[in-house]
Amino acid sequence: MQDNNLGNNAVHVAARLSGTGPSPMMMLAARAADLRAQGRNVISLATGEPDFDTPSHIQDAAVEAMRKGDTHYTFVDGTKAAKAAVRDKFLRENELSFDENEVGVYTGGKHVIFNALSATVDPGDEVLFGLPTFPSYIDAIRYCGGVPVGVETQASGGWKLTPDSLDKALSPKTRWVILNSPSNPTGSAYSRAELHALAAILLRYPQVLVLSDDIYEHLLYSPEPFATIAQVEPKLASRTLTMNGLSKAYSMTGWRIAYAGGPAWLVKAMATVASITVSCPSSISQAAAVAALTGPQDARNAFAETFRQRRDLFVASLNQAPHLRCPLPDGAFYVFPSCEAAIGLVTPKGKRLASDADFAEYILDEANVAIVPGSTFGAPGHFRASFALDTQQLLEAAKRIKKATEALS
Ligand SMILES: Cc1ncc(COP(=O)(O)O)c(C=O)c1O
Repeated sequence: MQDNNLGNNAVHVAARLSGTGPSPMMMLAARAADLRAQGRNVISLATGEPDFDTPSHIQDAAVEAMRKGDTHYTFVDGTKAAKAAVRDKFLRENELSFDENEVGVYTGGKHVIFNALSATVDPGDEVLFGLPTFPSYIDAIRYCGGVPVGVETQASGGWKLTPDSLDKALSPKTRWVILNSPSNPTGSAYSRAELHALAAILLRYPQVLVLSDDIYEHLLYSPEPFATIAQVEPKLASRTLTMNGLSKAYSMTGWRIAYAGGPAWLVKAMATVASITVSCPSSISQAAAVAALTGPQDARNAFAETFRQRRDLFVASLNQAPHLRCPLPDGAFYVFPSCEAAIGLVTPKGKRLASDADFAEYILDEANVAIVPGSTFGAPGHFRASFALDTQQLLEAAKRIKKATEALS
């Protein structure tokens, strides 16, 4: 039970909130902002959002929506226009055909995850995902009374679940398997063949739902085209929820719009949860989403190209730092280097680095660069650094990290 600071527990927060807290990334970003306010020149590589402005034709659509009076409640899981744009997107880009009652529009990707799990997870149900992972999955699973089951993956295997590791982790209690490709935090992406092999295992577990979190779909730099599991194995489509959103692809994190397609019973149950919590997504943001999904895609493609160039530059620079090993991520805008070789070394102030958290703290204190320890995502000995910053800041950050790692003995 969490303390209410009143000296008694007569009033208190609910037990379901125990074990959850503010996102560590948000806390790190806030700490970096605090240090900046104190006059320190901190570069934050901690947050997960693109640094571009939302493309102007999308902004214009929002202004037009406001002017013409689209400022009221909409249907709980999206306007007809937004649902039509989502259906068209899934068909055009993912070969997934959904009826209107099989898609929904929500207040961001976290809302999709929350609605889906709240609608289906009973206490004790297991939800599986590969480690390292996006920590919000774990919080949402716990909040619903479910049991998070993180399946370890290896850097040498590209941080991916294998058919064998998945098979071993599945149990009669498994309710969901979550796939996230390209991944936060590692940037690794499943190929069509890899998804096919995982699907072959999942076909043997008919009680299991699959959540495919495709939010980084459009930030993929490997030559292999993007694929999603319901597309690769249509036999899984009747129990797969394919989710995507506007935050990352269109630089629209503040607009809070994401969407999903899946079986009608699930989409309906998610709408029930959404009606309890938010009534509907913002009418104005939905109008913007229609413009994003149906309008020209040049800005989105240009963002992805810029990220690719930043990735190449940043990875090359980081790999010049001693004690770090930084693989090239397939997608998203994160690198996930190993700092295992730095653990056990001693800082110029005489502190022995005992963990990735110590390493991240050292880098913040000595190099004025905020990074997120890998243990936050379930992979100690690593760290996540976002490359959603301009080239000059990225090069400066890499230079500072190199200097700090050179000073370790
Ligand atoms: C893997 C993954 N899924 C979902 C989200 C949620 O994004 P949003 O709520 O902005 O749509 C994020 C955001 O960081 C993410 O990294």
